[in-house]
Amino acid sequence: MNKLLTFTSISKFMQYRNSLGGSVGLIPTMGALHAGHASLISRSSAENNFTVVTIYVNPTQFNNADDLKKYPKTWEADLQLAEQSGANAVLAPMYAEIYPDDYKFKLTENDFSKMLCGAHRPGHFDGVLTVVMKLLQISKADKAYFGEKDYQQLQLIISMAKAFFVSTEIVSCPTYREADGLAMSSRNVRLSSAGRKKAPLIFKTLSAAGTPEQARAVLEKEKIKVEYLEDHFDRRFVAAFIDDVRLIDNVKI
Ligand code: PAF
Repeated sequence: MNKLLTFTSISKFMQYRNSLGGSVGLIPTMGALHAGHASLISRSSAENNFTVVTIYVNPTQFNNADDLKKYPKTWEADLQLAEQSGANAVLAPMYAEIYPDDYKFKLTENDFSKMLCGAHRPGHFDGVLTVVMKLLQISKADKAYFGEKDYQQLQLIISMAKAFFVSTEIVSCPTYREADGLAMSSRNVRLSSAGRKKAPLIFKTLSAAGTPEQARAVLEKEKIKVEYLEDHFDRRFVAAFIDDVRLIDNVKI
């Protein structure tokens, strides 16, 4: 097993990065790592000479201060999971260093980012795209791995990389699910035990036949607050609240 290096300083990390001879895979995360992240790290470590995990709860992508405050933080366990899954280094930067401009510069997409999550979380994708672009620049990764659970995010990152001639290959990875179908998410740990029991209904309902209106009615009957449930392209997307925890998922239809 690799001995994991941890960096909080971006400049020290960049020195390390420039010393590496071989391909680098990047897994950007906000921590609270779970088996879904572990699968991305293992895949990167099988496909690259070095694997870097970033852990940064990015404030610019939160439009709700309470959501940011409650985002789970499990630093020690994260390091253990990253190391065991094959990561070589973790970068966990501070706001002042990753936003030297105090977010005066940002990346905005003006089409797909305004739908679905973007319609309900103003500024969310500006924050995501800006921080991901920074992480791609800092890591000079050959490949960067993202899960399809955040399908809208993934598509926006693919389009951004194309628009800005980013040479990193953006790799799409299938959604990792619990045995009962619930999409793995760092937010799942915030569910009560009753909420956790109810949560697989989201995936089950999304995967069942019927219209988006019918699917929404099934969830609402179970007192699940639906933010959106919509079909776009060949996929069905949902965002819903259980115990005030916002969960998202999507399936191919
Ligand atoms: O998907 C996430 O965890 C975040 O949106 C990301 C890509 C790490 C950017 O902060």
